[in-house]
Amino acid sequence: MANDGVDKSRRRFLVAATSVVGGAGAVAVAVPFVSSMLPSARARSAGAPVEADISGIEPGQMVTFQWRGKPVWVVRRTEEMLKTLPELDDQLRDPKSEESDQPPYCKNEHRSIKPENLVVIGICTHLGCAPTYRPDVAPADLGPEWKGGFFCPCHGSRYDLAARVYQGVPAPLNLPIPPHKYLSDTRILIGVDQEENA
Ligand code: FES
Repeated sequence: MANDGVDKSRRRFLVAATSVVGGAGAVAVAVPFVSSMLPSARARSAGAPVEADISGIEPGQMVTFQWRGKPVWVVRRTEEMLKTLPELDDQLRDPKSEESDQPPYCKNEHRSIKPENLVVIGICTHLGCAPTYRPDVAPADLGPEWKGGFFCPCHGSRYDLAARVYQGVPAPLNLPIPPHKYLSDTRILIGVDQEENA
């Protein structure tokens, strides 16, 4: 994806720049810089926040960003996608996200701040494989009941379009939602809770 490409290029540049400085001088420069950038103890424990430009995500599309070495997916859900969510509760293991990991401001039916944008860590809660995004409805391999969601190819775990896990699969929990906040309609800061700097 385009955003991934930008992130990787920037990372390569930063790695190269660090390599050039090198040695003890890098430590002396880096410490005050890092200290001034981190907004709180909670943010420090969560790792450096990552700004994500979501302006180019088309309806129905998913884009991957990287935060703390993990893939963070942003899915732009359509009205049709959102309509499927209330119909699925009796098929899900934790439909109200009581046991699952998300910030309190995402503990709702759509598991997000804005209904149209799902921000979620793309690591299966079974054994850590990478699920695939399957927005297609009733595909041959997933069956006529499939309304779109995420499918883990390792052992067959299924999640809906709010990343809530279905019953009868090995994954025990919904996919985790990272702390995040909106900087604008098109920019998200991943790794910082929306209350902290609101
Ligand atoms: S790791 Fe995803 S189903 Fe096992």
